Order: sequence, then C-alpha cells, then structure tokens
Amino acid sequence: MPKVTIDGHTIEVPEGTTILQAARMIGPEVAPPAMCYYSKLATSGGYCRTCIVKVTQGSEKDPRPMPKPVASCRTTVMDGMVVENKTSAEVLEARKGVVEFLLANHPLDCPVCDQAGECHLQDLSYEHGASDTRYEFERRTFDKIDIGDKIKLHMTRCILCYRCVKVADQLTPGRVHGVINRGDVAEISTYIENAIDNEFSGNMIDVCPVGALTDKTFRFKSRVWFTKPVDAHRECSSCSGKVVLWYQGAEVLRVTARKDAFGEVEEFICNTCRFDKKQTADWVIEGPRKINAHSVISANHYEADTVNPGPVTPRLN
Ligand code: SF4
Ligand code: FES
Repeated sequence: MPKVTIDGHTIEVPEGTTILQAARMIGPEVAPPAMCYYSKLATSGGYCRTCIVKVTQGSEKDPRPMPKPVASCRTTVMDGMVVENKTSAEVLEARKGVVEFLLANHPLDCPVCDQAGECHLQDLSYEHGASDTRYEFERRTFDKIDIGDKIKLHMTRCILCYRCVKVADQLTPGRVHGVINRGDVAEISTYIENAIDNEFSGNMIDVCPVGALTDKTFRFKSRVWFTKPVDAHRECSSCSGKVVLWYQGAEVLRVTARKDAFGEVEEFICNTCRFDKKQTADWVIEGPRKINAHSVISANHYEADTVNPGPVTPRLN
C-alpha cells in the first residue's frame, strides 16, 4: 500500500486513493477544503481548485516535486509522496486567490442570505479570503426561479460546483437539470424550468455548498443558529429515514440529512422524510445532534470543548 506524508502526518492508504481522501483519513485538521468534490457523488471534483496542495516529493522512485499546486481531489497518492497543505505558505496564498475568483461573481451579502451560518464559501472566505475585493466589474445577477415546488434556485449565488447536477444524474431517474453555456455565462438550468419532481431531488439542497439552492419550506423562517438540531429516525421504505430535525420551540422548521465532519451527507434522504414529516410524532427522537463547536450553529446550544467537540451537553433554552 502506498505511503504518503501530508503536513508531517504519514499514512498508508489503499492503491488509487487521492491526496484529499488520504488527508481526510488523517483527520479534518489536515484535510484541504473542498467546494466541489463530494465523496458520495461519482465524478465530482476538479472544478473549483480550493483543494490545491503542494507536492514537494512526487514519490519514493521519483522524488522530484510537482512544478505547481495540484488539485488534491483529483491527484492519486504515489508511494513516498510528500504533500504540504496548511504548512505551505505558497498553498495558502494560492488558495486565497482561488477564493477571490469564487467570490468574483458571488454576492457578498451573507447577512441576508438564507445559507449564512452553514455556507462553506462563507467559512472558506473567513479562513482564506481577503477582507476586501479588487473586483470592479458588475457581478452577474439572475432572477430567482423555482425548481419544482420545494426548491428555490438563486443562480446569483451559484459557484458552479456541479454537485446538484451529479445528484440529479446519480440519484434521480430522468435528469431534467444541468449546466448550460460555458465560461461566465454558464448557469444551472432546468431546461426551460421543468420541475424536478422525484423522491430524491431534495438532496440537491444539502449538497449545495452555498445559498444557491434552498428549501422553500424553510427559507427565511429562521437564522440557522436560532434552531436546535436533533437526531431522529423513522421507518421509511425509500431511504434510511435517518435525519436531523431543526427545531424552533416545539416546531420542526426543517428536516435535513445528517452530515459528517467534512460537511457531506452521510445518507441521502427522500423528499417524503424531508418535506412531509414535520411533526415530532412522525419521528423517533434520538437526542441533540453533535455539532462541531467550531460551527456557529452550536452557538447558545451546546457547551463543549472548542477544540475537540467531544460529547455535547444540551441546554434546554
Ligand atoms: S446550485 Fe449549488 S450545488 Fe448546484 S452547481 Fe450551483 S453551487 Fe453547486
Ligand atoms: S474540491 Fe478539488 S477541485 Fe474542487
């Protein structure tokens, strides 16, 4: 099995593992950010470049460094490879440039965006972005459109990561949406606004890293940090039935899939669980969702170690 060293941590991984996957096996503190790669969606990755790293030694056999930063989600580990991510000033500088590009056409209005608090681009900008923009041109804007009766698309916020297209392609039969045009006129389209009407379309909302695809049944009902996430499950014939219920008081404001430490859905859920089961009586409650104390969602809800979240202690109000 090839051995790779990332930011000083050495790990042996199965043949064919990418640098990003190897870094995730070491842990979130080493893993590069990823805005388009999604381990549960085949052929994802390679679009956004946020996951770039520096390969300072190609392999044991050929120790030459790679000449420029590489996309870690698309680069396979070689035996003896040495990689720098957070320990490389060059990578951090390059990533800052990538964030600047992602923000070139993304509105800087987090306070009025429904995704605020759980937006990966917001986190990325705080961690790697500059405090102001050098972009002087008018940003492209689009009208909001409905994708089916439960999903709102605000193309103005889309970073063209293609994750929702992969969901449509791989989870739903008869895909009716994709990216049309290319370059700065590329956009997500439902091919003349055909409604996406099938049992797994709601997963597009969960995989969208920004506020481009939002849940119309929850949109602007509450800031996410005012809601309380609770793990729950039910018998479901279409999906695992394992979800997170987001409460405000006794009311379930929304239902989502559960996400892992890398912000990825653990198991995709069906639209019936997501949109039609909003009564506590529909669910078997398991207990408070463990939220990383790093997340704003944990504000006012949990008392936990800020470095290692560990077990959380829920407060009741
Ligand atoms: S709508 Fe969201 S998930 Fe789809 S391509 Fe745009 S940013 Fe990605
Ligand atoms: S996560 Fe690797 S290119 Fe987007």
